[in-house]
Order: sequence, then structure tokens, then C-alpha cells
Amino acid sequence: MNAGLSMRFETLAVHAGGERDETGAIAPPLYFSTNYEHNPDGEPPRDFLYIRFDNPMQRRLESALALLDGGETSLVFASGAAAAAAYLQSLQPGSHILFCDDLFYGYRDIVPDFLPRWNIDWSYVDMTDLDAVRAEMRPNTRAVWTESPTNPLMRIYDLAGLAELAHEKDAQLLVDGTFATPALLKPLLLGADVTLHSTTKYIGGHSDVLGGALVFRRQSEQVSRIRQVRKLLGGVAAPFSSWLVLRGLRTLAARMRVHSTNALIVASFLESHRQVNEVFYPGLTSNSGHPLAKQQMSDFGGMLSFRVQGGRERAIEVASRVRLFINAGSLGGPESLIHHAVSFMHSPGNTPDDLLRLSVGLEHPADLMDDLKQALG
Ligand SMILES: Cc1ncc(COP(=O)(O)O)c(C=O)c1O
Repeated sequence: MNAGLSMRFETLAVHAGGERDETGAIAPPLYFSTNYEHNPDGEPPRDFLYIRFDNPMQRRLESALALLDGGETSLVFASGAAAAAAYLQSLQPGSHILFCDDLFYGYRDIVPDFLPRWNIDWSYVDMTDLDAVRAEMRPNTRAVWTESPTNPLMRIYDLAGLAELAHEKDAQLLVDGTFATPALLKPLLLGADVTLHSTTKYIGGHSDVLGGALVFRRQSEQVSRIRQVRKLLGGVAAPFSSWLVLRGLRTLAARMRVHSTNALIVASFLESHRQVNEVFYPGLTSNSGHPLAKQQMSDFGGMLSFRVQGGRERAIEVASRVRLFINAGSLGGPESLIHHAVSFMHSPGNTPDDLLRLSVGLEHPADLMDDLKQALG
């Protein structure tokens, strides 16, 4: 890429991490080698020693993600969960973390199980209320951990406001940007310190790779600590996974445009359906997060959720009647998914039991509406 040109996201996503090697290959070369030759004195003559310490494919992906998210540096992991765990393990024992109350339910399970063992304290707060966040900050709060949009209630938080509050108290703001991806939202440019991605979702984009990433606004001592956690505890991304995630980046901008267009059409259809009580999608003007989402994001993404009239059993019945949507968790692939979220939560928290979550795919939106119409009856 010509470093002298300032380029837009779409262009960067097609080229980032794609530097040609001596063969001129357009698709990046993939090295499966676990081991690299070293000098007799143990020094690595060509940077690499062992796959778990660092490897060429991982490096390409990290440089691409840092560029696309506007960070100085990035670390990639075996999964989004491994990325989250490495961050948590880098905090000093005795720290406190403030989580948003609509936290991804996989992380909500990590918290009570592992944080006490690492001597980390935590609390949850409604992050739509900045005064409540300020009141909940403690002298030992080291991280404010949020998502935007959240999973599964699609809440939108004021990331610049949260960053300011966190920094006043010497804490970091970490934003799980999995739903939006850097194509739609760049938390680091709004003041966040770390962006977390499950690259398993939209960035990989094809339901065939597991991966995670942390992108950091600044290079720091903490980044070195997290790198050390990954190196010693082994949550490293495999080369082929990194290769697939980098390939996903090439089409991310185009896919997110179609996901967003389709999701807005489906959300508007659901909002007008008499069997639907409430639709959660930040692209709807009726959504309380809409003005903020419009400010922070370039589009609203492919995720939405809605409450079905008639309660939990009726919601499950609707999910059982779909023919095109697939009943499945996860998200971000080309195929549309439907998911009764509460059925998969150990602690449902504030998630209503009549809530169905949709990952709106790349199919024709008329087919998606036809399917939901017949399923809702
Ligand atoms: C918002 C969000 N963050 C993180 C994760 C965890 O990522 P992974 O499954 O890659 O470990 C998920 C997975 O569903 C998610 O939805």
C-alpha cells in the first residue's frame, strides 16, 4: 500500500496486511511451521522462533486490525474468549472492573467463576446512565468494560462519555466491538483504550473460523503483559485461522453494508407486525439509542432482537416455525439465524424470556420477511 495516501476504510480493508513477499503472491503465503531455525547462540536470525511466541500470519493480521481500528498495535487470539481472558489476567489482583449490565452472556459466565480466583472484584451498571457509572466507580476500578451495540438488547452507549469518566479515575475503557466491527464503529477514535473483537463473527464472516483480537490505542507496558499472557498460557491464534480472518477482512465493508440494509428492512417489518411487542435495533428511529448510534456509527449492523407477543413458549414456537432462518447461536455469517437467547443463558439477567435474536444475513430481504411472516402467523 502507498503509505503516502490517506485511504478510506473500504480500501484499507482490501489491502491491509497484504504486502507481497518475494514470490509476488496476491493471497498471503501461509506458513504452517510450528518451529523456526535459530542461531547456535539461540538468537532468531529472522524474527521467529516458535509458533506460540509469534508467527508470520498472526503478524499480518495484527497489523491489519491495528490499521483498520485506528490503534497503535493489536494482538490476536484463538477466540474472543481467549482475548477477554488474557486482558483480565493482565490486571493486577485487587482491581475492580465495571461491566455494562447487558454484557455478552458468555462473559457473564466467566465473571463469577474466574474473577474471584484472580482476586478481581466487579460490579454491573446500566451504562446508558453516565451518572450511575460515575457513582459506581471505585478507587481500584481499573477497567470499564462495555459493548455497543450490546448482546442481545442492542443498547448503545456514549463511548466518548464513558472514556472520559474512566480516564478521570485512571481506568481504561474496553469496548467489545464484535457486533459493529471496525467497518461501522471505531471505539479507539472515540477515546476507548482497547477494542475487543470476536473475529469468529463478522470479521471472519463465513461461520468457519474461531478467533479473537484486542486492538490498543497505545503501545504500553500492559500490551507487553498481555502478549506475555498469550505466549505463556497459549491462547494464540493458529496460522490458518489468522489467514481466514484476514481473508474475511477483504469483504467486510461490503458485507456490513448488506447486513445493515437487510437488518433495517427486517426490523421495520417486525416493528409493524401485530404479533411483535418490541423491536431492538439502533437503526430504527423509534429506538432510544438511535441518535447516539447515528453519531458514533457509520451504519447499524446486522443484529437485532424482538419480543414476541404471548411469552416464552410462543417465542420458541415462532423459532420452531422458521424455514429459511436457521436456529443457531453465534452470528455474523452470510446465513440468517434466529436464537431464543434466554434458553442459552445460565443467568438471564435483564433479558426477557420472550426475546428472539436475529443475525440478519446476506439473503434477499424479501425472502427473510416472507419467512418471518409465515413463522409469526
Ligand atoms: C459480543 C461477543 N463478544 C465476544 C464473544 C466471544 O467470542 P468467541 O466465541 O470467539 O470466543 C461473542 C461470542 O458469541 C460475542 O457475541
